[in-house]
Amino acid sequence: MADEGAFPRKKIATKAKHLILQEYVKAWGGIILHSMHRKRGLRPIVLGYLDTCCGGGVYEGPGDRDEIDTLGSPIIALRALRELVALGESLGLVVEARAMLVNTSSTELEALRRHVSREALDGVDVVYEPGEFAAVAGKACGFLHDHFGLVLIDPYGPSAIPFNAVFPLVSQSYNDCLVHFSTNGLKRWAGSALKAKAERTPDEEKIVEMGTAFFGTADWIETARKDRPEGKCENALVQLYRNKLEASGVRTLAVPLLFCDQNQTKYHLVFTSRNVAGLASMKEKLQKGDLYQRQLRHRLLVDREESSKGPWLFEPEPDLSSMREVDKEAVRAAVLALLNERKRAEFQDVVAACLDLPNVLERHVRSAVTGLRKDGRVACTQGKIKYHDVVTLVDP
Ligand SMILES: C[S@@+](CC[C@H](N)C(=O)[O-])C[C@H]1O[C@@H](n2cnc3c(N)ncnc32)[C@H](O)[C@@H]1O
Repeated sequence: MADEGAFPRKKIATKAKHLILQEYVKAWGGIILHSMHRKRGLRPIVLGYLDTCCGGGVYEGPGDRDEIDTLGSPIIALRALRELVALGESLGLVVEARAMLVNTSSTELEALRRHVSREALDGVDVVYEPGEFAAVAGKACGFLHDHFGLVLIDPYGPSAIPFNAVFPLVSQSYNDCLVHFSTNGLKRWAGSALKAKAERTPDEEKIVEMGTAFFGTADWIETARKDRPEGKCENALVQLYRNKLEASGVRTLAVPLLFCDQNQTKYHLVFTSRNVAGLASMKEKLQKGDLYQRQLRHRLLVDREESSKGPWLFEPEPDLSSMREVDKEAVRAAVLALLNERKRAEFQDVVAACLDLPNVLERHVRSAVTGLRKDGRVACTQGKIKYHDVVTLVDP
């Protein structure tokens, strides 16, 4: 029997998003707790989670009830927080975990409250906040202020949370944020924005205003016009959004999540953090989530063909192992380019500068720097390089 108030069965993109969230909450808390462990004796550590569009907590799913098949983001995050409280205790730390769950629908929020009440969440305090997120954004910033915060900003398809509600959260010193960037929304906004203002209907004008609220200013219209071919406009606008978030001093990463049965992006997940260890860990999780969605899509295609339900709706994926391929020369070149510009940089800045390259993880950057050191192109400490070690360019 379906759970009361359950959302319809998850799409593949939702499963991948939830896998990324589940893995990252644990990694994020682990990084914080292990680093605070070394500074033991300080005040209690507060881990805060904010779900700005939390939903009802449960999805319909198959009988075997795998967490990733049926649990919504708030329950996934709360369970991970509970594990982190236990991890903190095992490290001799005092950890307080708190979550703020926001939803515009009070019916969904009530369903969530019932589901959460069945969870054993010792050590995790939960606050429910009904309403549009933009209306409670100030309160949410106060909730996370001065604590380590993880924020999921995940509205439905074409709806979007305005930039002036997102930016203050991204700007807070200790927050990591995962933001849903809707491709559906983008197509609607860009479609209307391509028309001259005088030619737009009142509805189209409203749609353009939604886009402007999402980006914070109207300059996105210029980008959409300049890069008219569809795909280019999408990538250019994702990059514009990242640049705007980066203006607060954070670094960003992004991954496209795909439709189940088309070769098209459903939405992008944009991640922001000031912490390079967090960024490097998220890159791994995004890559794992991407591989997972492609495996599920592949399975779907095979099932469809086996049940002879007609032709495939999209080309099968090429060999998935190619997703792991790293262009080592490109990593070396990126390291040298950064050092040519700056002459010296902390290793963590070198890592951050390379993470946007396809499939590149921290270990690939480490091995590029070690190789360059061996070749006498750069200088840095011998042995295992640490984040704060300085890497310098060696003059030829
Ligand atoms: C895609 S669902 C995501 C649910 C949840 N994050 C998850 O992954 O399980 C989006 C939810 O956000 C709610 N929502 C949409 N726009 C919102 C807004 N502006 N403020 C608060 N909640 C919103 C909807 O009611 C819906 O429950």
